Amino acid sequence: MKETVLSGMRPTGNLHLGNYFGAARSFVKMQEEYNCYFFIADWHSLTTHPRPDDIQKSARTILAEYLACGIDPEKATIYIQSDVPETLELYLYLNMNCYLGELERVTTFKEKARKQPDNVNAGLLTYPTLMAADILQHRAVKVPVGKDQEQNMEMARRCARRFNNIYGVEFFPEPQNFSFGSEAIKVPGLDGSGKMGKSDGNCIYLYEDDKTLTKKVMRAVTDEGPKAPNSEKPEVIQNLFTLMKIASEEETYRYFDEKWNDCTLRYGDMKKQLAADIVKTVAPIRERIVEISSDPERLDKIAKLGAEKARESANKTLQEVRKIIGFRPVNYIK
Ligand code: TRP
Repeated sequence: MKETVLSGMRPTGNLHLGNYFGAARSFVKMQEEYNCYFFIADWHSLTTHPRPDDIQKSARTILAEYLACGIDPEKATIYIQSDVPETLELYLYLNMNCYLGELERVTTFKEKARKQPDNVNAGLLTYPTLMAADILQHRAVKVPVGKDQEQNMEMARRCARRFNNIYGVEFFPEPQNFSFGSEAIKVPGLDGSGKMGKSDGNCIYLYEDDKTLTKKVMRAVTDEGPKAPNSEKPEVIQNLFTLMKIASEEETYRYFDEKWNDCTLRYGDMKKQLAADIVKTVAPIRERIVEISSDPERLDKIAKLGAEKARESANKTLQEVRKIIGFRPVNYIK
């Protein structure tokens, strides 16, 4: 029996290189070894009240981009959260065992409440419970997520534990944060500090053409250059090297590292090489994004297939949950 992996992504704009190296690429490997569910968390995005047209469009965009990265709908179950209504019933049951105090203490809740003081809605508060339902409905044990999701993951484990305790069962396994291979890869941005995020000048989108992408890399922040042999790299330069380590061949990296060490490095040359290597990764993905997006019917079919598989799994869990709680089973799928 393969272990179940699940990850969700909110549809907030296009995928960038950080999403690719940090997540999508490892999802593509995981689908070979695990029973994988990858879904687009469009319900979660309702906490900020997007408009109906935007919801549809952004979910489709992300779906197409994940497929273009190599997620295979035959190997993994890829679906849109709102296509699986079973999740909501489990969400209700889990909410009965979550407490106001602990939900209010979640940092992401506090942050969002601060950012949108006029819209501190109950959905925002119970965001972690919905996330727990996403995970527990497939009884997933491995959840690849970023560091910022640790508290939500802790809530998911509590939901599992509490349910088991209250009903005296061993039903839900406790899901664990999962980083594939060794450490999670953090992709630095182009503006000299921190990780790649969705701001212009800092990030490279997977849909970007070679010229735009190259221009962005050429404009990446650098300094005046190495002053003494074998000196430590300042953060901006280290970031450039980290990008190269991720996107280029080992040999290329070593070549430029040596140039840094003997003070003969020209940033222009390094960036040109880095841009060329990033193009090698991005160009084929971009071509697939164009191809997949041009066939909305196929995209619909893939979303439907994913929803069917996800609903079957969710329904199975839900019927057992209903029985455990004391309700009669209701088969939602005819
Ligand atoms: N909260 C996650 C994020 O913002 C998205 C998400 C929703 C998720 N449900 C999930 C991630 C279930 C993993 C598992 O990135």
